[in-house]
Amino acid sequence: MGKHRRYIAGPVGPALMLSVSLGLSGCLETSSTTLDDQGASMSSFDWGLPDSIPLPRVPVDNLMSEEKFELGRHLFYDQRLSVNGELSCASCHHQDKAFSDGLTTPFGATGERHPRNSQSLVNVAWASTLTWGNPSLGTIEQQIMIPLFGDDPIEHGLNAANSEQVVRNIQAEPVYAPLFQQAFPDQDAPLYGELAWDNIVKALASFVRGLVSFESALDRGELSDAALRGEKLFNSERLECFHCHAGYNFSDATVDRQTSFNQLVFHNTGLYNIDGMGGYPEPNTGRHEVTGNPDHMGQFRAPTLRNIALTAPYNHDGSVGTLEDVVRNYAAGGRLRTTAPNAGDGRMNPNKDGFITSFQITDAEIKDVVAFLESLTDESFVTNPRFANPWAKNSIQETP
Ligand code: HEC
Ligand code: HEC
Repeated sequence: MGKHRRYIAGPVGPALMLSVSLGLSGCLETSSTTLDDQGASMSSFDWGLPDSIPLPRVPVDNLMSEEKFELGRHLFYDQRLSVNGELSCASCHHQDKAFSDGLTTPFGATGERHPRNSQSLVNVAWASTLTWGNPSLGTIEQQIMIPLFGDDPIEHGLNAANSEQVVRNIQAEPVYAPLFQQAFPDQDAPLYGELAWDNIVKALASFVRGLVSFESALDRGELSDAALRGEKLFNSERLECFHCHAGYNFSDATVDRQTSFNQLVFHNTGLYNIDGMGGYPEPNTGRHEVTGNPDHMGQFRAPTLRNIALTAPYNHDGSVGTLEDVVRNYAAGGRLRTTAPNAGDGRMNPNKDGFITSFQITDAEIKDVVAFLESLTDESFVTNPRFANPWAKNSIQETP
């Protein structure tokens, strides 16, 4: 179990453990959802959604409010929330890159390298599971404990020893007292005592949940001829993309208020085949890393493709540089990797998903598919001031 450590926060007190207790134990196959169908509509929060998009599910104990969203925004961009005051969520999640960071894999506050590529934060509220390939994380609240308190790798580097001082630093910033009071109006002292971390996590989750992107050229019905040709290819039985990158969020791992159950779907796309045995490089074995089930080797969640043109490099370990190369790997039915490390013929991976089969495609057609993927970029999402760093210049800043 040692290598699963990453998913368990350190001994940081009862209020914290409460939020992560759903973690690893037992049933990973069926839905362990704590979400409530009605949650999204039980608050007056304005999601800013087009009529065609169903409301997401929201945990009943953390309904959305504009005040929580705004508090979460301040925390998301606040480096006080790290062991050495040098890293915030925004260090790895940049708005101009749809909240990814442009790196192959990122570094935590103490310089430790994360084994996976920083995900974009786009319509995460609709994701049925969180992160690249973890079936046990059903809510954003659970997921956020990992960057904050995880120690393998260290990201924010918080733990039992330093978390009280971090809260004191937040208490000392005058901006926060009214923000916490407005976000948690039923509590006498929401920034003090046992509930402080619970509130911080809930506010951060509310901000992430509010990062909504449905205003791309595709949504506006403004596709170029190339993008229209690419859309046809994307939805063709030759390329098969649409089976996994399905629906309005271009992911079959999507839940909303109209979905009757929480879909736990993961796929092996044949990126690796180490030793000819279907192996993926440790620790990035995907769903298998959590379940230990050999059939789950190399299985990952199909990520949303919204804003995908802004989030290079690609795949769970950032090992594919361009969208063209992503498409070429699919066309080959997997990736042939001839150079170390992790050389192998992914096309021969025995756990490959049935939809990953080779197909013929011309360079012009690849360009069309990429033009379609580019039409999923939402300029208003990456420039929306609601999602931007709220801290004035010369005050505490996000990492550049
Ligand atoms: C050191 C870089 C780094 C920092 C700091 C960081 N993240 Fe992440 N984030 C990542 C990586 C890498 C992943 C993918 C993790 C995985 O697959 O195991 C991720 C995944 C996520 C996801 C899952 C997205 C999805 O589509 O499932 C959310 C939500 C998220 N981060 C929010 C946050 C928040 C909120 C913070 C601040 C408390 C934060 N992150 C801090 C790098 C970082
Ligand atoms: C069998 C399901 C499946 C099919 C079919 C499929 N994908 Fe994927 N796609 C995935 C999964 C799973 C990942 C993540 C894999 C990983 O990183 O190891 C992914 C990753 C991607 C990425 C990189 C995402 C990122 O955030 O880095 C792009 C781009 C992409 N797919 C586009 C396509 C296109 C275009 C097609 C059709 C040619 C296609 N996919 C077909 C499941 C699928």
